[in-house]
Amino acid sequence: MAMSRILPILAAVLMSVIGLAGNRAFAGDPMAGKAKVEAACQVCHGLDGRATAPMAANLSGQQKEYLVAQLEAYRADKRRHEQMNIIAKMLSDDDIENVAEWYSSIKITIEMPN
Ligand code: HEC
Repeated sequence: MAMSRILPILAAVLMSVIGLAGNRAFAGDPMAGKAKVEAACQVCHGLDGRATAPMAANLSGQQKEYLVAQLEAYRADKRRHEQMNIIAKMLSDDDIENVAEWYSSIKITIEMPN
C-alpha cells in the first residue's frame, strides 16, 4: 500500500485513540467526587449540594461545564474569593472533574413561585 494511502488511516486511528483518552479524562468519577466533597466541600455546600450558609452557592444539579469553569477560575485566581481561591488550589484537574461530576449528577426538581 502506498504511503499516501496509509497516512490518512494512521491519522484516523491516532485521532480516535486521542479522542477516547480525552473523553475518559473528561468523564469524571462521581464516587471519587463524592469522597472529595465529603472531605473538602460538604461543610459549606452540603454533600447534596444544598448550601449550609447563605453566602455559599447551591451546587446540586448545576451544569458540569459551569462547575469546572468556576473551579478552574478560582484555582487560577481569575475569579476572586478568599476561601474558594485557597480551596480550589488544593484540587487537581481530576478532583475538579470528579466533584463537578458529583454535584452535576444530583437530580433536582424545580418549582416556580405562584
Ligand atoms: C468554607 C466554606 C466553603 C468550602 C469548604 C467550599 N466552598 Fe465553594 N464556595 C463558598 C462560598 C462562600 C462561595 C461563593 C464565592 C463567591 O462569591 O465567589 C463558593 C462558591 C463556589 C462555587 C461557585 C458557584 C457558582 O454558582 O458560581 C463552586 C463551583 C464551589 N464553590 C465549589 C466548591 C467545591 C467543589 C468545594 C470543595 C472542594 C468547595 N466549594 C468548598 C464556600 C465554600
